[in-house]
Amino acid sequence: MFLVTGATGGLGRRIVRRLREQATPVRAFVRLAAAYQELEDRGAEIFIGNLQCDRDIRKACQGVQYVISAHGSGDNAEALDYRANIDLIDCAKAANVQHFVFISVLGAERHYEDAPTFKAKRAVERYLQQSGLAYTILRPSGFASNLLPIAEQFRRTGIYLLIGDPESRSSIISTDDLAKIAVDSVSIADAHNQILPVGGPEILKRGDIPKIFGHLFNREPFLINPPVLALDGLRTVLGLVNPHLQASLGTLRTLLADEFYCTPEEIQRVEAIYQFRLETLEHFLRRYLAI
Ligand SMILES: NC(=O)c1ccc[n+]([C@@H]2O[C@H](COP(=O)([O-])OP(=O)(O)OC[C@H]3O[C@@H](n4cnc5c(N)ncnc54)[C@H](OP(=O)(O)O)[C@@H]3O)[C@@H](O)[C@H]2O)c1
Repeated sequence: MFLVTGATGGLGRRIVRRLREQATPVRAFVRLAAAYQELEDRGAEIFIGNLQCDRDIRKACQGVQYVISAHGSGDNAEALDYRANIDLIDCAKAANVQHFVFISVLGAERHYEDAPTFKAKRAVERYLQQSGLAYTILRPSGFASNLLPIAEQFRRTGIYLLIGDPESRSSIISTDDLAKIAVDSVSIADAHNQILPVGGPEILKRGDIPKIFGHLFNREPFLINPPVLALDGLRTVLGLVNPHLQASLGTLRTLLADEFYCTPEEIQRVEAIYQFRLETLEHFLRRYLAI
């Protein structure tokens, strides 16, 4: 039995689908208000709980062999990116879980002081490594699925908002490839007790993305390109009413102001371990947007 947290999220949903395609038993940790019918229809066992409640985490881990931690944090990195994962690791250990897959983030080791999610991810990575559990830590770059609603909007308007430097590099990962990697990590010996940066097969400049959209939809992009400084101003204003949000915008700022890409060697390593070719962003978009 697998336990998947964040099972209604962009990645978690794909992990559950993949497990069910293989007829593997999976318990999907979901919140009551979330849209989980699809997961139930696919045969997942639905566990309704809240990751801010350690009793729910303890119960969810009962009878589980594998855990995939794929939940996000909204604007509460301390409670969800950090504390919920620490509780999950403790409960997984107590329940004799055989393997724990943790979805971290590319750049978790870079000590970004202003990015609570990055700090939490690194602290959890360390905790997991010292827990005695068998683990795989995946450090993905940005998910291709994040771009689907933006692409749909571009299809309608031709407008693309790019905050920050169009020259900065990233390697967008197919969310379906990442789901496959997360699932296969428990059974591939070379993935055991590894920290793996995971990105798409090509290093893109952020300014390439509207060009790809333009090519796909046969439309000249109209680029709106404010500097990252514009976000700083907004952050200061928001901080007056919501300090939590101001802190979590530090993570967004870090993502916009820095480069997040994998080297060709890192990509080759992932492809060699998991024995498949990673999908390009354009290929992913064509599949989902039926172009
Ligand atoms: N998106 C990216 O580009 C990216 C890049 C690198 C790493 N990551 C990491 O990858 C993981 C998955 O990201 P994602 O984009 O797929 O996430 P997402 O779409 O934002 O989904 C977040 C998931 O976490 C669940 N969740 C949030 N608070 C919860 C709570 N208190 N109790 C139970 N469940 C809760 C949400 O449930 P509801 O449906 O109820 O809200 C949802 O299923 C995260 O750890 C993220 O940090 C993401």
